[in-house]
Amino acid sequence: MERFITPKLTEEDRSSEQGIRPKLISEYVGQEKTKEKLNIFMKAAKMRAEPLDHVLLYGPPGLGKTTLSHIIAEEMNVDIKITSGPAIERPGDLAAILTSLKEHDVLFIDEIHRLSRQVEEVLYPAMEDYAIDIVIGKGPGARSVRLELPKFTLVGATTRAGQLTAPLRDRFGVICKLDLYNVEELSGIIRRSADVLHVPMEDEAVVELAMRSRGTPRIVNRLLKRVRDYAMVKADGFVTRKIAKQALDLLEIDGLGLDAVDRKVLTCIVENFDGGPVGIETLAAATGEESSTIEDVYEPFLMQIGFINRTPRGRMITNKGRVHLGYEMVVNTDQLYFETLPAQTEGE
Ligand SMILES: Nc1ncnc2c1ncn2[C@@H]1O[C@H](COP(=O)(O)OP(=O)(O)OP(=O)(O)O)[C@@H](O)[C@H]1O
Ligand SMILES: [Mg+2]
Repeated sequence: MERFITPKLTEEDRSSEQGIRPKLISEYVGQEKTKEKLNIFMKAAKMRAEPLDHVLLYGPPGLGKTTLSHIIAEEMNVDIKITSGPAIERPGDLAAILTSLKEHDVLFIDEIHRLSRQVEEVLYPAMEDYAIDIVIGKGPGARSVRLELPKFTLVGATTRAGQLTAPLRDRFGVICKLDLYNVEELSGIIRRSADVLHVPMEDEAVVELAMRSRGTPRIVNRLLKRVRDYAMVKADGFVTRKIAKQALDLLEIDGLGLDAVDRKVLTCIVENFDGGPVGIETLAAATGEESSTIEDVYEPFLMQIGFINRTPRGRMITNKGRVHLGYEMVVNTDQLYFETLPAQTEGE
């Protein structure tokens, strides 16, 4: 099912993202820890006139990994080459890209967890020694020749750091986890984007949008554009809180930013699995969604707002989630048992 609030990149995003995308680290809102780390390491690298060490960025889609890789190149004053794990099919493809880099350039590999094993093997010496080994000839006469590469910075991005092999992960000098953004940070992003797009907005409307965008800049920017459209057609173009609310209601995005798919997943846990715990594959089958989509896209936000708990036995809905959907709270009997236990055993 195609969702309006999908954090995945759509064609419309691509065309309008150019102007909205921050170019410098000072324009990049939030992610303070990541920015601090990068600022220090970029400065040090510049002082030593060396390339920045390899950087791994991970976190849910739409949080700004691609943006950050461009910013790194911009701040380091170098060019960036962009590719992705599934696009590099054979070791030769990677060798061609690596040999085309210039000193200190950034190579951005999106979805780096999807690199094939053989391609990954080429990447190891490239990252470690700035060299690749090329095999010349076939059979017993084959020999391996080492080819020096320019010193470059690999920036890898992934939504699933857990799927990276240990040898690959270990070769990154800087590892940054991007977190979902809070309402204040999202408000900052909206104000910046509204400025770029010339959308006049009331402060309350900014907050209303921020609250409904699941902690994700890509969603915030997309909602902003739809709200702008709505304001132009239904009013005089000025986005008030009321206009923003009406537009978002029309898009079936509720007060917390949940859409029909989120509600389907939550309802399914309650109705079909008694509130859980339910395994991710079972839940995927029951809702007709991909298990990886549930894990990467829905779950991080539903966990952040405390609607779902991940237990070793599977996903459980919380009372907070139940109440939001209009279900009764349930008393957790396990918890009651544990809470009363110490009192009973005290006298022994
Ligand atoms: N910290 C930020 N400040 C301002 N705008 C941001 C920030 N992070 C992301 N954005 C905006 O959000 C949009 C999505 O960001 P980006 O494409 O970098 O996400 P991503 O993490 O690479 O997502 P994906 O995993 O889908 O590739 C961009 O248009 C960018 O303008
Ligand atoms: Mg990206």
